Amino acid sequence: MTKIAVLRERAAGETRVAATPETVRKLAALGASVSVEEGAGLGAAISDEAFREGGAEIGTAEGVVAGANIVLGVAAPDPALLGGVTTGATVAAMFDPFRDRARVEAYAAAGLEALAMELMPRITRAQSMDVLSSQANLAGYKAVIAAADVYGRAFPMMMTAAGTVQAAKVFVMGVGVAGLQAIATARRLGAQVSATDVRSATKEQIQSLGAKPVFVESVAGIEGEGAGGYASEMSEEYQKAQAELVTAHIAKQDIVITTALIPGKPAPQLVSDAQIASMKPGSVIFDLAVAQGGNVEGSAADQSVEKHGVKIIGFANTATHLAADASALYSRNLYNFLAAFWDKEQGRPVLDQEIGDAVRLTRGGAVVNERLKGTA
Ligand code: NAI
Repeated sequence: MTKIAVLRERAAGETRVAATPETVRKLAALGASVSVEEGAGLGAAISDEAFREGGAEIGTAEGVVAGANIVLGVAAPDPALLGGVTTGATVAAMFDPFRDRARVEAYAAAGLEALAMELMPRITRAQSMDVLSSQANLAGYKAVIAAADVYGRAFPMMMTAAGTVQAAKVFVMGVGVAGLQAIATARRLGAQVSATDVRSATKEQIQSLGAKPVFVESVAGIEGEGAGGYASEMSEEYQKAQAELVTAHIAKQDIVITTALIPGKPAPQLVSDAQIASMKPGSVIFDLAVAQGGNVEGSAADQSVEKHGVKIIGFANTATHLAADASALYSRNLYNFLAAFWDKEQGRPVLDQEIGDAVRLTRGGAVVNERLKGTA
């Protein structure tokens, strides 16, 4: 019988876990047995007992990986922990492969099959397996909540006997998965919301959420859409026009949430020190891209930096601050992935070419991913 192992995450600050009692039950229904390391779920409020009730075996790291055919992780475990797995075992986790090449090489050397969940193609049939989306959605929500928490004023307009409290003005920069959820969350809290992106397709999405789009018009290269629906780097002319427009707008905002990323490149800087200085004291900026280099000049991961009376915050890993929901969604992404490709005869997932080529990093002792080979 196929054995699936789930280890406790070892990275500092990581609270998530790659399975829940719900997914343990579902994986068992595929015909696998699931072993979970003791304490693996504690950061996400899942006890060993709850895992047991879901049908998991609980054990030490060594016991859990012994004879495992498949290992599930949030971050890919150190291969040194995986000595006891079967030859050529499959590990599905986040590998951060472009930044942590050494780990990929170590997986190749260990003869493991490494599947990088963050490289899942952005295609319709893979939406339910898309860990970047499931985690970014929660991160967009949490960014607004965290900003609201340190903002010394209220978000909604309130008419009270003692006078009126003005609605907060929230500006969301970068309207991908996280940005859309940030807009929706700020709207639910009663803020006046505006948003911008380089991809003009987001204009309608911003409007449909009841927020105001702030967009550069009539500049060359305005489309801003590169491969796979992601942003591309913009022309100098565009960047200048965008900076001017944004400068005038930012000065009137109370809260700025930045979420802009460009795949494979450092995050673009969207907010300069001069723009921060133009904001009212007491304003708050949440930099969701802080771990990828930051969208905001001077932002620092897991720190509250105060500049010109403006608080700049951002978490190294925002989804870990919603560990229970983040684990539930991440685990379902993993289950949906395994289930979609499960081969009953072989008792393991057999990937098709499109998704297999995209997510597989190593197999048979070699690095096999085309995108990764190009960056060696
Ligand atoms: P992301 O996390 O890579 O980037 C966040 C946002 O920042 C993007 O909207 C991007 O256009 C924007 N951005 C980049 N540079 C900027 C700049 N200089 N100024 C302002 N904004 C900037 O993006 P995410 O959230 O991963 O989504 C990317 C696209 O993929 C979206 O169109 C999304 O709808 C699509 N998508 C499709 C899926 C599917 O079909 N399976 C699943 C998830 C996302």
